[in-house]
Amino acid sequence: MSSTLLMILLPLIILSSIPQESDGQLEEWCIADEQTPDEDLQKAVDWACGNGANCSKIQVNQPCYLPNTLKDHASFAFNSYFQKLKHKGASCYFAAAAIVTALDPSHGSCKFEYLP
Ligand SMILES: *[C@@H]1O[C@H](CO)[C@@H](O)[C@H](O)[C@H]1NC(C)=O
Repeated sequence: MSSTLLMILLPLIILSSIPQESDGQLEEWCIADEQTPDEDLQKAVDWACGNGANCSKIQVNQPCYLPNTLKDHASFAFNSYFQKLKHKGASCYFAAAAIVTALDPSHGSCKFEYLP
């Protein structure tokens, strides 16, 4: 084998041996951006809950009601919307009120779903 060919093949062999996530995708959740003003967050939550997000878990006495902050409720609503509709072209944006995170935001009995 010529050394030129080896120089081309070697990086390919090394790259292909790096383990990948089984489906090649990283787990991502969609949460509220801390810097978003409350007024904008509230609008985005109302919109998300009316357009596909399942907001039942952030209602009083439900597992994601606490902590009862707009930011936490917005994060749950954004993620619900994003997970359900991401394969239909939805993005984690909400007029810049949302950001993507690789850290699972679930806490206690409040589970933020991740759909592959
Ligand atoms: C919303 O979530 C609740 C609790 O997980 C579930 O019982 C309900 O069926 C869901 N509603 C819709 C429309 O998916």
